[in-house]
Parts: sequence; C-alpha cells; structure tokens
Amino acid sequence: MHADLDRVLIRADDIAARVAALAAEVLHDWPDALDGGAEPPEITPVPLMTGSFIFAADLIRHMPQMMQIHLMSVSSYPGTATTSQGVQIDRRKSNVPDDLTGRHVLVIDDILDSGSTLRAVTDDLRQRNPAALKTCVLLRKQRPEALDFPVDHVAFDIPDAFVVGYGLDYNGYYRNLPDIGVLSQSAIDAHRQ
Ligand code: IMP
Ligand code: MG
Repeated sequence: MHADLDRVLIRADDIAARVAALAAEVLHDWPDALDGGAEPPEITPVPLMTGSFIFAADLIRHMPQMMQIHLMSVSSYPGTATTSQGVQIDRRKSNVPDDLTGRHVLVIDDILDSGSTLRAVTDDLRQRNPAALKTCVLLRKQRPEALDFPVDHVAFDIPDAFVVGYGLDYNGYYRNLPDIGVLSQSAIDAHRQ
C-alpha cells in the first residue's frame, strides 16, 4: 500500500472486474443495442478530464462498438459567487462537437460527490441535441447530494471520504496508483503547506 494512504478501499483486481461488468451493463441498456440489427448503434463516449482518463480507457476497451471519443474538460470554481453552478466547461480543452444530433452520448466521470460537475456537463450536452444522453461514474459517495443525483451507471458506492488513485487526484498527485484508497490526513496536510 502507498505510504500516504490510510487504507485501500478497492484493489486493482476488483476495479478491473467491476469495470468489465459495468461495460456489459452499459451496453445492455443501450438503445437498440440488443435488437438483433446488423450494426449496434455508435456510442459517443465523453470522458471528463482529467480524473476519468484511466477509468474511461479501461471501460471503452470492453465496448466493441464503433465509437468516436470526445473529451470534455471542466473547471471548478469553489466558493466564487460569480458562477451559479460552481463549475464551468473549459471549451478550449474540450473537443465535443457543438451539434450532437443523432449521437448516443455516454458521459464518463470519476466520482459523483456534490453532483455539480455532472449537472453542468449534462445541461451543456443536452443543448447540443443528442439522440440519447447517459451517464456513468466509477465512484459514488454515500452522501445525500450524490445519492439523489440521477446517474445511469455506478461502478462502486463508497464511504464519504477523500479518495485517490486510478485517475483520482489530490493536488494533481496519486492518479497513477493502481488501487483506490483513502488519503491520510497527514498527506492532505503536507500538500496544503
Ligand atoms: P462534484 O462536482 O462535487 O460531484 O465532484 C466531482 C469532481 O470532484 C470529481 O470529478 C473529482 O474531480 C472531484 N472529487 C470529488 N471527490 C473527490 C475525491 O474524493 N477524490 C478526488 N477527487 C474528488
Ligand atoms: Mg479532480
């Protein structure tokens, strides 16, 4: 275990198994995916940068459909009164087409916490007229705002703690840890100084 973790929450092996199962769930629920047609419909995955990049990379490799991937980058502005939602799409770092007419979009995010990120993203994408818009997250925290937020697919429900690894960061670090773990208070304090 990495020295800065209090405990490992989900081991790499368990993540891999669940991500494979989640991909099957997503495809099972996909519109017309099982209607026996010659070609399953294309999927347009939209991973949210940067936290979901490892999850998205693993998830989409269990999806044999034709797909064009578009990245979306979101900036948080905690505590500012000027933005009502607290998050904004960073359009310079996103390459999602303005017009998604006919596209079946799957938003992929790392963690559902307050829900403000997914709310801002889905509100934005809906205005681009997709044929379908679904959401999937790797982790959902056990707190009312997260549990109340409508999301189509969740890989793991976790306690309301600050976690890192498998793409999730603290101050930009720890994304490369293969396991997901609870960051220790001393590591949190060390970066703050
Ligand atoms: P929300 O907008 O409050 O739902 O938060 C979602 C975003 O906050 C995620 O995409 C993460 O970037 C970040 N986040 C929330 N909780 C954690 C955590 O425990 N570890 C790392 N990042 C987190
Ligand atoms: Mg983050």
